[in-house]
Amino acid sequence: MSRLFVCVLISVVFAYDARAFIVPLFDNGQVQPGCYNPPEIPHNLTTRPQRWRDASAGPPLVTRQSGKAWSGWQNVEYLFTFGDSYTSTSFNIHGPQPNPQNPLGNPAYPGATSADGPNYVDFLTTTYNQSFIRTFNLGYGGATIDPSLVGSPYGLIVQSFRQQVQEEFIPTYATNSGVEWSGSNSLFTDVILSYTQRNSTLNFLLIKSYENLVHQLYAAGARNFLFLNVPPIDRSPGTLARDKAAQQSMAGYIGEFNFRLILLVYNLAVNYPATTVWLFDTNWLFSRLLDNGPLAFRETSGYANLTDYCVAYQHGTPTLTSLDPSCGVPVNAYLWLNDLHPTYPVHNLIASEIVQQITR
Ligand SMILES: *[C@@H]1O[C@H](CO)[C@@H](O)[C@H](O)[C@H]1NC(C)=O
Ligand SMILES: *[C@@H]1O[C@H](CO)[C@@H](O)[C@H](O)[C@H]1NC(C)=O
Ligand SMILES: *[C@@H]1O[C@H](CO)[C@@H](O)[C@H](O)[C@H]1NC(C)=O
Ligand SMILES: *[C@@H]1O[C@H](CO)[C@@H](O)[C@H](O)[C@H]1NC(C)=O
Repeated sequence: MSRLFVCVLISVVFAYDARAFIVPLFDNGQVQPGCYNPPEIPHNLTTRPQRWRDASAGPPLVTRQSGKAWSGWQNVEYLFTFGDSYTSTSFNIHGPQPNPQNPLGNPAYPGATSADGPNYVDFLTTTYNQSFIRTFNLGYGGATIDPSLVGSPYGLIVQSFRQQVQEEFIPTYATNSGVEWSGSNSLFTDVILSYTQRNSTLNFLLIKSYENLVHQLYAAGARNFLFLNVPPIDRSPGTLARDKAAQQSMAGYIGEFNFRLILLVYNLAVNYPATTVWLFDTNWLFSRLLDNGPLAFRETSGYANLTDYCVAYQHGTPTLTSLDPSCGVPVNAYLWLNDLHPTYPVHNLIASEIVQQITR
């Protein structure tokens, strides 16, 4: 069986009035595929740094429609994120909810991520925020879009995007939640890896399912959506280890998926004029970094190795700048932590670019 990794990032941000939150009993921390307990964050990384940006880099803007419900990034109070290990911070919806001490609720900031440090959701919430944002991160390591189409290789415990919407977001936060929310000041985000045979028919079905779930979020009141497309996983170490034909086939599949995602976003904007919709071109951003090198962006200027990962780092490291002699350079000088997941500097770049896109 050949495996295909597709990352879909959907973003949806909601604005809510903060009222009483239901705080169910905390059962246990989740250990999610591809997510590791990250190193301790030095205090200064979580406070607002200057906004880093290479002025020559064009905006990865594909689509934007402004609906009435959007009153600006500076007014976002609630962020709902969906996805897989690129997104997950291992939030447990039964644990402590987002609060002033931890805007992501649980586990301790930045959560267990796949980035060996804060991921783009963490950076959006605590670094590039222009307001206090409570983030409900429903992303789950290993998630696919819809298990009836493509099951996760990690089994039934994995919460797919469908389950994140239908079994978590809707029952816990949309209805009976004790949290009164409206569509304004809200945003949604998602990254999904789907493991499957490359097949155009299946791609179509996946996007239909994705679209159907977005419609369910709309029906629940969501109005502001940020979609992130699939990065060039065909250029990740896991795929580079395979033959040329496999790489080209993966690139073609991702290209087709991303094209269909454009249609999804376009249709959403046309059919629901009340929505504010962005499509963030993660694929463009990664490709530019890989083509032009680390200096293409300030956030990635510390990278020394864009092509490979170091085995000693692949399951995470004790600090943000850990150095194992067998790796030559510190962990944060590697773009890739392992065969599929990038390290935190590129998540910083993603978040920085997202905020520039949605504030322009
Ligand atoms: C964070 O603080 C440490 C220790 O004070 C310092 O060495 C480092 O340069 C700081 N990092 C940033 C990004 O400001
Ligand atoms: C950004 O988020 C941090 C962490 O929640 C918070 O301390 C800070 O006040 C927020 N910034 C603004 C401008 O509200
Ligand atoms: C493509 O995927 C669809 C949906 O899973 C399946 O019914 C069909 O048999 C697949 N086609 C090929 C050629 O694998
Ligand atoms: C990148 O890292 C791998 C694994 O440590 C190493 O084999 C390779 O030589 C490095 N490449 C560069 C350009 O440093």
